[in-house]
Amino acid sequence: MSGVILITGATSGIGRAAARRFAGAGWKVIATGRRQERLDALVAELGADRVHAAPFDMRDEAAIDAALDALPEGFRDIDVLINNAGLALGTATAQEADLAQWRQMIDTNITGLVTLTHRLLPRLIARKGAILNISSVAATYPYKGGNAYGGTKAFVRQFSLGLRSDLHGTGVRVTSIEPGIAETEFTLVRTGGDQAASDTLYGGAAPMTGEDIAETLFWVATLPPHLNINALELMPVSQSFAGFQVARA
Ligand SMILES: NC(=O)c1ccc[n+]([C@@H]2O[C@H](COP(=O)([O-])OP(=O)(O)OC[C@H]3O[C@@H](n4cnc5c(N)ncnc54)[C@H](OP(=O)(O)O)[C@@H]3O)[C@@H](O)[C@H]2O)c1
Repeated sequence: MSGVILITGATSGIGRAAARRFAGAGWKVIATGRRQERLDALVAELGADRVHAAPFDMRDEAAIDAALDALPEGFRDIDVLINNAGLALGTATAQEADLAQWRQMIDTNITGLVTLTHRLLPRLIARKGAILNISSVAATYPYKGGNAYGGTKAFVRQFSLGLRSDLHGTGVRVTSIEPGIAETEFTLVRTGGDQAASDTLYGGAAPMTGEDIAETLFWVATLPPHLNINALELMPVSQSFAGFQVARA
């Protein structure tokens, strides 16, 4: 099985690994992200017949529309949408957090995601396609400093389940993918470029990789069309749950 897939945030990490996985299996991939040079490199690597670069910022509605209008022949009938672009910014507690960072996470992880999804629903319904939304374990398990990021990912999970309900009878499949720690540029972005912090977090932890998640996305997308994975939570073995905290006077 193959078709046309649009993957947001394909310039790095999970999205780039997914672009390689699907293109390698014969899919036509629309790769998005802000960093044009990285998208161009993906086209050079995988071939212009396999990958179309569509650079846009998820927060720019007009740019999304322009990119969709400009899709070339062969890339217009989108079968699968992977809503992957997203970010965490900062690890401060709510009372210390930067409101501008909260807004950027909400604008990207929520508003951008619902805008693109809304635009593509008619095509996805016409194709009996699939939507794979990248949420996070942060949607379910709160942790200190996760505040707005966890909130955006809880939205993504619940929006996915709501879409499932609304799309009842259309044949469109919807899945919320909820990963734990995967080594990508995620922590570099979250910390404002602190490579040491990123190395410390992932060092010795045998975290998941972008390729691990890409393989999962590929499996979900290529299941028989009568099967829907509603939500899928995955972690490296090295990660598990911690308890509650109690403040004492
Ligand atoms: N890594 C983890 O541990 C982990 C765990 C659970 C969930 N996730 C989720 O997985 C998804 C992918 O993250 P990743 O780990 O692969 O991190 P990453 O390596 O930093 O990749 C993030 C991608 O999102 C894109 N992006 C961010 N802001 C954007 C914007 N305003 N407009 C367009 N594209 C934007 C980036 O592209 P440009 O910078 O080129 O725009 C990049 O391609 C995110 O939604 C993240 O929340 C990650």
